[in-house]
Amino acid sequence: MKLTLIGSGYVGLTTGACFAEVGHEVMCVDNDTGKIATLLRGEIPIYEPGLADLVTQNVAAGRLSFTTSTEEGVDHGEVVFIAVPTPPNPDGSVDLKFIEKVAREIAPCLKEYKVIVDKSTVPVKTGEKVAETILRYAPSAEFDVVSNPEFLREGSAVADLMKPDRIVFGSNSDRASALMKKVYEPFVAPLLVTDIASAELIKHAANSFLALKISYINAISEICEASGADVELVAEGIGMDTRIGRAFLNAGLGYGGSCFPKDIAAFIAISEQLGVPFDLLKEVQRINRRQIDRFIDRIRKALWVLEEKRIAVWGLTFKPDTDDLRCSVAVDLVERLAAEGAVVTAYDPKGMERARELPLGSKIRLVASPEEAAVGVEALVIATEWPEFARVDFRKVRQSMLSPLLFDGRNLLAPGTMRGHGFDYHSIGRGAP
Ligand code: UGA
Repeated sequence: MKLTLIGSGYVGLTTGACFAEVGHEVMCVDNDTGKIATLLRGEIPIYEPGLADLVTQNVAAGRLSFTTSTEEGVDHGEVVFIAVPTPPNPDGSVDLKFIEKVAREIAPCLKEYKVIVDKSTVPVKTGEKVAETILRYAPSAEFDVVSNPEFLREGSAVADLMKPDRIVFGSNSDRASALMKKVYEPFVAPLLVTDIASAELIKHAANSFLALKISYINAISEICEASGADVELVAEGIGMDTRIGRAFLNAGLGYGGSCFPKDIAAFIAISEQLGVPFDLLKEVQRINRRQIDRFIDRIRKALWVLEEKRIAVWGLTFKPDTDDLRCSVAVDLVERLAAEGAVVTAYDPKGMERARELPLGSKIRLVASPEEAAVGVEALVIATEWPEFARVDFRKVRQSMLSPLLFDGRNLLAPGTMRGHGFDYHSIGRGAP
């Protein structure tokens, strides 16, 4: 099929490449001329495992192309996906100006029947607004609007798209549903077809449930610390119940990234607008903030005063296998340590380039390796669980540090082994601190 993605960011580009991989003819559109020029040169503007090869191969095979022209894109696709950013407003609600703009831009380009699919994460009822907007600017246009939430995770986006757990779309038209089924025919996955509002809600409900699981285990981690229990064993024990499952029960510094914090705030705002406040999610947010507060308290307690203390931080991205620093708890941690006067040396395997663009100030020095970060420091903090951090020579690292304080904010390491190397080892919810 001929498909178009409007918006060639994280979701648009990865989805476009995967659609091309299964044989569709895909055109990715973006109004950022720099981004399109980068893609046309064969470079990928983001780091995502497997994506570069997928893009290169499909461009070479003539199934993937890029343009800055919305008109060209709309002409090309039988189905046109909108995958533009939906940033938060200061009050947590979603700013839908980019979606509205694309709807306005698509309208005059509609010369024949098209399915317009909303792939961006949007509040319930956005589909209706998109249809209204298109009709306002093109009253005789023939089209249907469909909601098709994406469930890809950064770092495993290609795998999530190629082998999804499920495909969900919401449609109020048989004609549009038939075309959508054809789009997803090459993907082997259970398909759920709903009305538009339900599909829109599924996305926010899924992300907030996952965030709830994380906050749940983080709340338990605090009880473990107070009682001497081990949160890893508790997570294993409850996760063995198939009704609960072990996934997303990793205690740590809390969730970050471009999705959960924004989507939880948005869902709270929508529920309030609908007159049914979802207060449980406010508690999810509170527990998430408390994890990093508690962690910093523990560092402060060990070092007494943070002013002038040299602290190494390993990991800056919001999770491993990405270069994304957006709403990263690790970056927040670095900033808060520096704000208290600590002198931070930081290292991340993939996030250094983006970290250099952040206004981190003179109290933070970015270095070339985890070992270099740890030289002469009073404490070492693991903020993101990159697997390579578990493979460094901890005996050498310990010797290069001024004092052996190790704070593992992601429970990456084994307490017994680290204590064996002579570390004063602290982690999350694994016995009394
Ligand atoms: C999340 C969802 O997992 C995807 O299904 C969804 O499609 C995506 O948002 C989206 O809305 O676009 P993502 O933000 O890429 O994906 O990352 P996750 O793997 O979900 O991790 C989010 C945060 O939770 C990270 O900061 C991670 O460190 C944290 N986390 C995750 C925990 O603290 N504990 C866990 O057990 C799992």
